[in-house]
Order: sequence, then structure tokens, then C-alpha cells
Amino acid sequence: MKAIVIEKPGGPEVLQLQERVQPQAGEGEVLIQVAAAGVNRPDVIQRKGYYPPPPGAVQDIPGLEVAGTIVSIGKGTTRWKIGDQVCALITGGGYAEYCAVPEGQCLLIPSNLSFAEAASLPETFFTVWSNVFDRGRLQPGENLLVHGGSSGIGVAAIQMAKAFGANVYATAGSEEKCAYCQSLGATRAINYKKEKFRDVILQETRGKGIDVILDMIGGDYTADNLDILAEEGRLVLINSMRGDEVSVKLSLIMKKRLTVTGSTLRARSTAFKASVADSLLKYVWPWLLSGTVKPVIYRTLPLRDAAEAHRLMESSEHIGKIILLI
Ligand SMILES: NC(=O)c1ccc[n+]([C@@H]2O[C@H](COP(=O)([O-])OP(=O)(O)OC[C@H]3O[C@@H](n4cnc5c(N)ncnc54)[C@H](OP(=O)(O)O)[C@@H]3O)[C@@H](O)[C@H]2O)c1
Repeated sequence: MKAIVIEKPGGPEVLQLQERVQPQAGEGEVLIQVAAAGVNRPDVIQRKGYYPPPPGAVQDIPGLEVAGTIVSIGKGTTRWKIGDQVCALITGGGYAEYCAVPEGQCLLIPSNLSFAEAASLPETFFTVWSNVFDRGRLQPGENLLVHGGSSGIGVAAIQMAKAFGANVYATAGSEEKCAYCQSLGATRAINYKKEKFRDVILQETRGKGIDVILDMIGGDYTADNLDILAEEGRLVLINSMRGDEVSVKLSLIMKKRLTVTGSTLRARSTAFKASVADSLLKYVWPWLLSGTVKPVIYRTLPLRDAAEAHRLMESSEHIGKIILLI
């Protein structure tokens, strides 16, 4: 099969189209003929050599999510049959014509979505569900702040929280991105290059603050994040793009009884991922079918242009998702 391989850690040019042996469906797995694969920021970090795949995962083919057709079924697999069209969360190997996936990490593609749209869902929707709703315990009527509101993660978080009945704020790096976040349902999006999110949030919420913050920025955002959290507020970290080591006032956590938490998805167990898939099917798939929540695709490119897709992601010009078509 054809696959995009990371030849060595480096810039986008290390992504090379090569011939690889087609994987086979192992016990409890299905083999998917991939029609579309999502590009995510973690793929870029892996390409640079900073995010090694967990043991047992495909090591040198990036890609954490795919959509396609099941072409073979492994021993002991009960949920799927050949010909089913699914999207799937994977631990690596998505930039390829075929990939093998544990059956519990597959979800039936909603009938109103294309392969490209379906491929944009798993990595961001699993991440948002398990962090905003599970760890963050977001409730209807609460205030959520999504940093990086125009990212793949951000556009999913804004729409899912809004559909759930939360009041959503977002930050993003341009007026155009902010306008888009508001069109998705954010009450107010803050251009962090022009305004201080701390001041805007305190003004907008009349000093009450935010109940849950989804943060991928870290660094110098952390003190302000703790400052604007309401009593019993939850700060949920999914990356620390602006710095991993910070100094915080612990007394703020005690006084407001705050929770600081976070997670990474890739190395979690198959059983955990299957349980998130079940929640998505129950709570989020109906929103996709009704059009309440929509995939946001910025651009599709052919598989051979994976390097170009990574350059585009690193430019941060995109809003929503970048997808490779196989
Ligand atoms: N923990 C997990 O399980 C998990 C899973 C998936 C993704 N993630 C993380 O979630 C984040 C979003 O992923 P994605 O695939 O949706 O990526 P993405 O679409 O590339 O979004 C990242 C956004 O972050 C903003 N940004 C980039 N560098 C920044 C900086 N130095 N300071 C402030 N903002 C910056 C950019 O928006 P602006 O132009 O508006 O600044 C960019 O659009 C990534 O950090 C990724 O590693 C975590």
C-alpha cells in the first residue's frame, strides 16, 4: 500500500510517500480501506520528534484518525461487517491506504456526512468529550472558555458545548477567526493579539468568571486562567504550546476550590477509547445527524501532499480541520 512515512525527525519535507506492507486486522480489530485521514497538531509534533507513538502503535506513519470502508474483520470481532463505512480513532498510521483499528474505536459515519467530513471527527471529538465533559464536568448553563477557538479542537468544543446548553467564550489570533468562532455559537470571541482575555472575560461575566477552561496554550496563560475561574472552576489542559513550566498562586486554588486537570488521549487504553466512542454515539452523533454540530473543513489535499498539509497547519492560517484524501 501507499503511505506517508516520517523518514527522520524534521520539517514537513521529511514526510515521504512510500510503499509499505498492508496491515492485517488482528484479534478484535477491523481493517479499514482509508478514504480520508485527518491532520492534527500532534502529527506535526510527532514529525518533529517530540511526540513518540506509544509502544505497539505504528511508529513512522503519522495519522490519528481516518474514515473509510471496512474490508476485513479480525478474529473475535463482533460489532462490524465488511462494507460498513466508519470513522475511527487510531494511535498512528492514518496517512495510508489501509489501517487496522480495534473495533471499539470505530463509529458508523453519520448518513449526512462525507468521508472527508467524517475523518475530521475522531481525534477532536474524543479529546473534547473526555476533557470538557468527563474531566471538566461541564454543566448546561455554565461558562466555558476555549483557548485556540479556531483550531480543530476549538471548533468542535465550541459547537458541542453550545449544543449542550453552555455559554461559550473563545480566544483566537485574528478578527476573522474570532468572527468564525462567534458564528459557531461563541457568545464572545477574544482576539488575544489585541485584547487581554482576562479583562474581557471578567467584564463579560460581570466578575463571575468561567466554570471550565479548555487550554492548549499553558505558559503565561496559566496565571490568568486561574484568576478568571469561578468558585469550583476547572482548568483542563490538553497541551502547553506556550510553555510547560509555570509559577502559580496556590492560594487561588484553595480559596476558590479549583480543579486543575488534563489528559493526553493517544496512550489511553483501548477500553477507555471504546467507552468514549460509546458516549459520542449516544450524545454527540444525534447532534451531527441533526446538523446542530457540523464538521469544519478548511482544506482537503491528496495524500501525496501531506508535507503541504503540515506547512499549512504550522502557518496556523486554517480555521477547523485539514484533511488528506486517499
Ligand atoms: N491532549 C490531547 O489528548 C490532545 C489531543 C489532540 C490535540 N491536542 C492539542 O490541542 C491543540 C489543538 O490541536 P489541533 O489539532 O486542533 O491544532 P490546530 O488546528 O493546529 O490548532 C492550534 C491553534 O493554536 C493556536 N496557536 C498555535 N501556536 C500558538 C501559540 N504559540 N500561542 C497561542 N496560540 C497558538 C493557533 O491559532 P491562532 O492562530 O488563533 O493562535 C492554532 O490554530 C494542539 O496543541 C494539540 O497538541 C491535545
